[in-house]
Amino acid sequence: MVRSSFPHTRLRRNRFDDATRRLVSETHLHVDNLIWPIFICEGEQQRQKVKAMPGVERVSLDLLVEHVRPAVELGIPAVALFPVTPLEKRSETGEEALNPDNLMCRAARVLKQAYPHLALVGDVALDPYTSHGHDGLIKDGHILNDESVDVLRHQALNQAKAGIDIIAPSDMMDGRVKAIRSILDEHDFHTTRIMAYAAKYASAFYGPFRDALGSNALLSGDKKSYQMDPANSDEALREVAMDLAEGADMVMVKPGMPYLDIIRRVRDTFSVPTFAYQVSGEYSMIMAAIENGWLDREKTILESLIAFRRAGCHGILTYFAVEAARLLRGR
Ligand code: PBG
Repeated sequence: MVRSSFPHTRLRRNRFDDATRRLVSETHLHVDNLIWPIFICEGEQQRQKVKAMPGVERVSLDLLVEHVRPAVELGIPAVALFPVTPLEKRSETGEEALNPDNLMCRAARVLKQAYPHLALVGDVALDPYTSHGHDGLIKDGHILNDESVDVLRHQALNQAKAGIDIIAPSDMMDGRVKAIRSILDEHDFHTTRIMAYAAKYASAFYGPFRDALGSNALLSGDKKSYQMDPANSDEALREVAMDLAEGADMVMVKPGMPYLDIIRRVRDTFSVPTFAYQVSGEYSMIMAAIENGWLDREKTILESLIAFRRAGCHGILTYFAVEAARLLRGR
């Protein structure tokens, strides 16, 4: 019987078995796509659990090489360092950011020595160092732009000197990429890359991260006068265009999953190396559901990450990096 009304085209054919599904897969997640953010703290033999991020720890420098070893052995290309600064080293103007022996610089030296081929990403912003928890200098309740940029460029140089390979300004001040590129070039750091947090939103999803760094309790007000309004999308393209014109080598969208539309627009518009940060709140949300038995651990982690690749990301900063790498390598 010829059933002419039946479709000639059946999209389900290409989903028939695993081999065919693999053949027609449009995107792949690879260990090369992962960047692992890690929290470092002062002291010795410290492995402090971050309360709102089950499975994430702040680690002291004497344990750092061992802590990072699995990532290196799995082939993760880069880690991003986030220092927890003790209160007594925080100040109104955050000068600890410029100290060549601050925690971040010491961590960079330790890791470069142990793993010369591991790329180190350094967050540039003053919030780990300021007593008010803002990313820049503050005057009469207002975050100063140009004065902040002047400190941030020196922070970037300080990190480059310590061995940070990829400078990642996350402060959202205007003109900071140009200022950072200039100071790096003046000091012959021509190969130090800049991954600009180009479209960074004023997001509630950073809550657990600020807890991890101890800046939540300190933060006065919010960051809406420098981080972007979650309602805006065209503005993200202007931010990316500006950072590229100023010399950014790679751009980032942050947070990740609620902003996949932005990632897609950025990738389509600029065709440049594009990254996303699956931020602390996204991690915590997924982990909370996993721990409650509401979501399947492995499937959810991998699906959350392939979504970034489909949206157009080259790479993803994710607290799941090591676990995802293990899943991908079948270890
Ligand atoms: C600091 C910075 C933040 C994050 C990365 N760099 C927090 C903030 O802007 O308040 C958030 C990362 C995360 O939530 O995982 N400039």
